[in-house]
Amino acid sequence: MAGRVRKAVFPVAGLGTRFLPATKVIAKEMLPVVDKPLIQYAVEEAAAAGIEYFIFITGRGKSVLVDHFDHAPELETLLGSRGREEELESLLASMPEPGRVAAVRQQEPLGLGHAVWCARANLGNEPFAVLLPDELLMSDPPCLRQLINVHEKVGGNVVAVTQVPQEQTNRYGILDVESDDGKVAKAKGMVEKPDPASAPSRLANIGRYILDPAVFHHLDKQIKGVGGEIQLTDAIDATTDTIPFHGVRFEGDRFDCGDKVGFLTANIAFALKRPEMADRVREAVGALLA
Ligand code: UTP
Repeated sequence: MAGRVRKAVFPVAGLGTRFLPATKVIAKEMLPVVDKPLIQYAVEEAAAAGIEYFIFITGRGKSVLVDHFDHAPELETLLGSRGREEELESLLASMPEPGRVAAVRQQEPLGLGHAVWCARANLGNEPFAVLLPDELLMSDPPCLRQLINVHEKVGGNVVAVTQVPQEQTNRYGILDVESDDGKVAKAKGMVEKPDPASAPSRLANIGRYILDPAVFHHLDKQIKGVGGEIQLTDAIDATTDTIPFHGVRFEGDRFDCGDKVGFLTANIAFALKRPEMADRVREAVGALLA
């Protein structure tokens, strides 16, 4: 029913102020969880969901994010000459095919809606995905695949959600729910960071979207929302009269890596999944807690 989702947008032009001083010269999305930068987890999630084109919304000082998905000739030659085939193969395997990575400059971080709007010419008239790399999601199937499975049936705008405590609604985009079968919620709107007292539900978006290009009709108007930023939430909300809108409950583990404690927790959780280090990590964490 719905068109195939082939393209994904990765907004990485934010300033990462919650992670200063680490993010003074390094992009937040390059921070590693164990040994892989956040952006690579997001790209791998998208690739595993069948995405073919990867569009980075970058800003000044963020070119390194694009370089990460290109050849590193000196390093590759060195690894080859030292017989370190495994590392070399893993580096090469993480690169999308030629012509499938594009970078668009946002120039000024005017908000997530504005970041996505900057990719409009690269997206054309087809549904597309948006992934926020600082939300690290651990699941099988990957979160974006879970969304695409639902999108294939219902079309329109589809976002990943999780139920948050009432007092945290002012940190998220919150769905205004019409009906809910416990897995998929049909929504009639979305509000950015509502006060707990007036939040329409506790279903919060967790940084994964499949969007209909109709959202650009609203984003074209460049209207500022909460925090003086051009909000993607407002564009989704504005299209719910004409486009179906659903939230899909994410099944898996979620780590908010834009937050320091979330980031540290992700490092421990992902390290515990790695057979070659799990025992040592368990021992080290146990010793710290003892
Ligand atoms: P966040 O608000 O979590 O990221 O935006 P931030 O602004 O970088 O971080 P803090 O709050 O100052 O610590 C969510 C995502 O949207 C991107 C960010 O890079 C991040 O991946 N973003 C945000 C943009 O690309 N452009 C913007 O104008 C705003």
